[in-house]
Amino acid sequence: MTQRVAIFVSGGGSNMRALVEDMTGDHAARPVVIVSNNENSGGIAWAKGQGIATEVVDHRPYGEDRAAFEHALDAALAKHAPDIICLAGFMRVLTAGFVSPWQGRMLNIHPSLLPKYRGLHTHRRAIEAGDTSHGCTVHLVTPELDDGPVLGQATVPILPDDTPDALAARVLEQEHRLYPAVLRRFASGNTNRLDL
Ligand code: GAR
Repeated sequence: MTQRVAIFVSGGGSNMRALVEDMTGDHAARPVVIVSNNENSGGIAWAKGQGIATEVVDHRPYGEDRAAFEHALDAALAKHAPDIICLAGFMRVLTAGFVSPWQGRMLNIHPSLLPKYRGLHTHRRAIEAGDTSHGCTVHLVTPELDDGPVLGQATVPILPDDTPDALAARVLEQEHRLYPAVLRRFASGNTNRLDL
């Protein structure tokens, strides 16, 4: 049976786009909704242009009340009955209340070679640490931030005069290869780790 995928985005949505564009032909999954906390997300505009359903749940009216925000998110999501959630540059931390029911069915991409550099500013931190390589990780989401079983990683070199932006662009290119490849396998029931 076709797996129904919800993709969560906050910004430009380039990973979302790579995932959507791969979900054709014999892929076991199809995108059913793009969800964002940001109505100005480029990802939402692009999805609308593609005729894919969208849901925007602005986090700001909820202030510190994460449970209420997540309740609204859950209600929006339920209309589309997804089987899998892919976080793709979704920049709100989700609590255990939201994550736990989805454990094993929610994926995230993070721009570092986890367990290194959880959180933000990963590219700058890798350069400042003097690392010679960096990359991205697709993992199953658990209530711990940027934790959970790794489904795949892609590695890039850090070059002598790298800036965080140059390194981020090199990593992003690999994100666009890794995430679709991992989702394709995952949707067909293969959870073996993939290293590019
Ligand atoms: C990507 O680099 C993704 O790995 C990162 O945000 C960017 C979103 O770009 N995610 C995180 O930092 C999550 N902690 P995109 O909107 O163009 O896909």
